[in-house]
Amino acid sequence: MSEVHVLSHPLIVDKLTRMRREDTSSQDFRQLLKEISLLMGYEVTRDFATKQVTVKTPVCEGAFPALAHRFITIAPILRAGIGMVDGLLELMPFAHVGHIGMYRDEETHQPVEYYYKMPENVEDSVVIVVDPMLATGGSANDAIDSLKSRGCSSIRLMNLVAAPEGIRAVQQAHPDVDIYVAAVDEGLNEHAYIVPGLGDAGDRIFGTK
Ligand code: PRP
Ligand code: URA
Repeated sequence: MSEVHVLSHPLIVDKLTRMRREDTSSQDFRQLLKEISLLMGYEVTRDFATKQVTVKTPVCEGAFPALAHRFITIAPILRAGIGMVDGLLELMPFAHVGHIGMYRDEETHQPVEYYYKMPENVEDSVVIVVDPMLATGGSANDAIDSLKSRGCSSIRLMNLVAAPEGIRAVQQAHPDVDIYVAAVDEGLNEHAYIVPGLGDAGDRIFGTK
């Protein structure tokens, strides 16, 4: 069974509480999401392997730790996942970005894939799938299925807010994928929205409602 990491650092939860407020503007919402993503990225990458490399300092030569694998792909689920990319890129400017276009059908709540573009040889990369909301888990599961069908085997999932239902669904479908979240909320309402949640993340990021 995969691990669920709840990243309840005081700075993260404080920013998330500000995001939840219905009177938070799109501009502030985007900025807070970027800041939280950077902070979460620190924990999502905590177990990355390092190797010793030789470096000549101004004083002498020595062996020092460096990332063993620098091929990292940030994979936002469109649209809302885009809001988490910049924070992670600030942390890892060398990372690649692969997009997965997916929306939930408003009637069935089932995800529909409409776009997929990953870096070449993505199967050799560590992939961090990002999406602020993990509600039923359908979108995350389909995104992970798409990546696995292209050979990816090192995948982790980073969400801002998750419903217990979504966590269970991903753990069941993908027991090899660890999940990193800032908060686990109460559950889903009849529209499959997270309660208390923060509303429609895509609309709030992009000011479309
Ligand atoms: C939202 C969210 C996730 C999905 C989560 O996207 O960003 O992708 O719903 O729900 P699920 O866990 O039940 O699949 P939405 O469909 O609203 O699309 P958008 O990002 O384009 O607004
Ligand atoms: N998508 C969102 O943007 N918010 C929710 O609460 C659920 C799905």
